[in-house]
Amino acid sequence: PATGDLVIAVDGPAASGKGTLAKRLAAHYGLPCLDTGLLYRMVARAMLDAGHDIHDAAAAEHLVGSFDETGFPEERLRGGEIGEAASVVAAMPAVRAGLLARQRRFAAQPGGAVLDGRDIGTVICPDAPAKLFVTATPEVRAARRHKELLGRGEDVAFESILADIRRRDARDSGRSDAPLKAAEDAVILDTSALTVEEVVAAAIGIVERRRVA
Ligand code: DC
Repeated sequence: PATGDLVIAVDGPAASGKGTLAKRLAAHYGLPCLDTGLLYRMVARAMLDAGHDIHDAAAAEHLVGSFDETGFPEERLRGGEIGEAASVVAAMPAVRAGLLARQRRFAAQPGGAVLDGRDIGTVICPDAPAKLFVTATPEVRAARRHKELLGRGEDVAFESILADIRRRDARDSGRSDAPLKAAEDAVILDTSALTVEEVVAAAIGIVERRRVA
């Protein structure tokens, strides 16, 4: 990317609010936004649709080389179950390698871009001028997800959501290839006690300081 291009890396665990923040930052700065979790969710969806065992790394490697990004309506990619499956394929090095180039291409757009995921600041865009690591306690994340699901009329037990979040955190942080972790030069934003508006304001403040630095 050219000097002055504003690449903003937004990483964090499941249900941390990083997707909401990334979209708000993209709107604020007039930049395109990529939810990189969707790429892993597409691979998982394609695996399940084809009837493959989600742990079949050879099938996943084959699929990631050929799958059509436009073939998945977003409602088929959302939800905890597909998130869990995405977390499984995301631990496979061949899947991560197969998705690397399209993420870097997105980040290299003139003017810059916002990307959210787990490894944007560490692997995909290590030179991004602005890196945010968005986090909150597992209980707060589970409570937010619970409220969101109730709002959609889905009554899933809080305990089961919390267990899912803990399992996903453990897998995403524990894998050897590009584990979930804050880049050394990322600013950690703990949103446990903040509203969305407070998170957005804090994030813009961080980006502005990085831009002039
Ligand atoms: O952000 P999400 O919940 O949509 O992501 C789904 C899974 O994809 C997540 O559990 C781990 C994986 N993922 C990843 O490994 N690297 C990314 N940059 C984004 C997502």
